[in-house]
Amino acid sequence: FTAVHPDEQKFFNTALGLVKSAGRIVREAFEQPASAVETKSSNTDLVTETDRAVERYLIDGLHAAFPDHKFIGEESVSGGAKIEWTDAPTWIIDPIDGTTNFVHRIPLIAICVGLSINKELRGGIVYNPITNELYTAQVGTGAFKNGFPIHASSTQDLSAAVVVTQLGSDRRPEMISSFIQSYQTLMLKHNAQGNRSFGSAAINMMMVAQGSVDGYIEYGIHAWDVAAAAVIIREAGGTIISPDGSPFNVMGRCVLCTGTPQLSSTISTNFTHVQFQAEA
Ligand code: IPD
Ligand code: CA
Ligand code: CA
Ligand code: CA
Repeated sequence: FTAVHPDEQKFFNTALGLVKSAGRIVREAFEQPASAVETKSSNTDLVTETDRAVERYLIDGLHAAFPDHKFIGEESVSGGAKIEWTDAPTWIIDPIDGTTNFVHRIPLIAICVGLSINKELRGGIVYNPITNELYTAQVGTGAFKNGFPIHASSTQDLSAAVVVTQLGSDRRPEMISSFIQSYQTLMLKHNAQGNRSFGSAAINMMMVAQGSVDGYIEYGIHAWDVAAAAVIIREAGGTIISPDGSPFNVMGRCVLCTGTPQLSSTISTNFTHVQFQAEA
């Protein structure tokens, strides 16, 4: 690990402490009867008081410690506003990834905090406070789950692979139908071993990082869904690119990650024609 900022380790440790204590807010709410659920852009896009409380807690804590840092938080970015991403140390935050799971009391949810410096993703924390699984990585450290090293799978062939995908909140018909068609063709052509959807982009990516599944592809995701998890995937030895084979762009609204580049390449050659236009 070679820091690009003299205080980088302190930044990461501070965030780690805050994420762990934010876990309590989520755990307590998860055990209570469901509180008010609001919709944002549509009925597939939910928010609860807990999402807002966790985001406020994390931003307040980080802002108090590091007043000149910037934030890109899901519940603070107002709908449709252009995201401003600068070279300053920036915290990319998803207070609850998997709000639909949270509302349905499916225990697959994650608090996600990623750190970028000079627009480079430097550190990632993904914490499931219900199962108490804490995933961490910084560039050059390797990836860890509850302090133990994790590694992505070495599967190269789709016929031996379990692949994850997800219908997110973005349901534009042209995009969804060309995606589903390509996905179905790919999975059947190569007789893939299995298909899964865990309902949280970050959990999907942690399943790749720990080698439980071999690949994950989704269109429509946002920076806060994948920023922290991207660092963990890379440090676990996995590959992360755009589904069309071009380099991963955290603001690009789509992702393909796998344990091996061979598997990425098999998957991506089938997704070059998905009609996907990023909106932000
Ligand atoms: C969503 C989840 C879901 C994915 C969506 C995301 P949220 O995040 O990660 O798995 O399919 O694309 O928006 O809204 O629960 O934080
Ligand atoms: Ca959301
Ligand atoms: Ca999310
Ligand atoms: Ca969220």
